Amino acid sequence: MTYPKAVTLVEVGPRDGLQNEKTPLSTEIKLAFIDQLADAGLKVIEATAFVSPKWVPQMADHSAIMQGLNKRPGVRYPVLVPNMQGYEAARAAGAEEIAVFAAASEAFSQKNINCTIAESLARFAPVIEAARRDGVAVRGYVSCVLGCPYQGDVPLDDVARVAKALFDMGCYEISLGDTIGVGTPVKARAMIAAVVAAGVPVDKLAAHFHDTYGMALANLYAVLELGVATIDCSAAGLGGCPYAKGASGNVATEDVVYLLNGLGIDSGVDLDKLASAGRFINAQLGKTAASKVAAALAAQLA
Ligand code: HMG
Ligand code: MG
Repeated sequence: MTYPKAVTLVEVGPRDGLQNEKTPLSTEIKLAFIDQLADAGLKVIEATAFVSPKWVPQMADHSAIMQGLNKRPGVRYPVLVPNMQGYEAARAAGAEEIAVFAAASEAFSQKNINCTIAESLARFAPVIEAARRDGVAVRGYVSCVLGCPYQGDVPLDDVARVAKALFDMGCYEISLGDTIGVGTPVKARAMIAAVVAAGVPVDKLAAHFHDTYGMALANLYAVLELGVATIDCSAAGLGGCPYAKGASGNVATEDVVYLLNGLGIDSGVDLDKLASAGRFINAQLGKTAASKVAAALAAQLA
């Protein structure tokens, strides 16, 4: 089997992880978490979301986060943006890279961003255009690529259509989200193959797998074999979407790094420093490790 020699990890813990946590965290704690992640070697850290604070109060301090970042050379800090209002606020706060987010399921699109898929794409068009003018890179997410909490099965054609639309609109990378973590390896591979067949090259794809049923690592292993070389993950396995009830966290970054190390794939991340960042945020949240790798590393320290 062939795998990519190196993989880019997109750490989404400070955004996807913390957007769903009930325990309120101060901006200072979030900033310390982000800095520890950078210290562990993560080069792309999704820092926050410029969404409505009425919808996601956990991200209400987005501007303070962007203004308080200890930006390190060579580290990118993208932020989620749902519309022009979010784009303008993100830019005013100093964001240099953004991510827009659509869904492959109509029902999820309505619940998550209060509009149809077509309306969301129309809403993103001027955002992407403004970003292009401003020299701001735009990533595109597609949610519910392996199942929807409202609709159930999601046809692969719908996933491929939305992914291709975002790619054609100018997104430099398409992150494919198993939002509720229901995928299994053969389905994950078929989904990636469908998106590639629709015209999005595999090196422009990222896997964003939640781990609700414990399948995320197996799914990642399956899509690594297809050449996917960008993986979204969340330190300590934090995460979930407030509009996808029952969905648990993203695949834990600790688990992914352990897997990649075992496969001889370079991620540039120091597992011990990463695990320490995970323990820090878990302690702030009063949680124990959701990641088996993190728990095993913690046990060695005890
Ligand atoms: P809406 O209510 O339809 O928006 O929400 P609206 O345009 O009608 O405006 C209503 C109010 O919201 C107004 O305020 C606007 O100013 C305000 P009011 O006059 O009532 O005081 N507003 C905003 N405020 C701050 N920032 C903004 C903004 N836009 C409008 N950008 C909206 C539409 C998209 C804003 C809303 O539905 C929303 O914020 N949704 C975000 C939901 C979210 O963040 N979900 C989690 C992230 S997605 C995810 O987790 C999946 C992913 O991880 C991939 C995967 O796992 O699959 C990415
Ligand atoms: Mg997610």
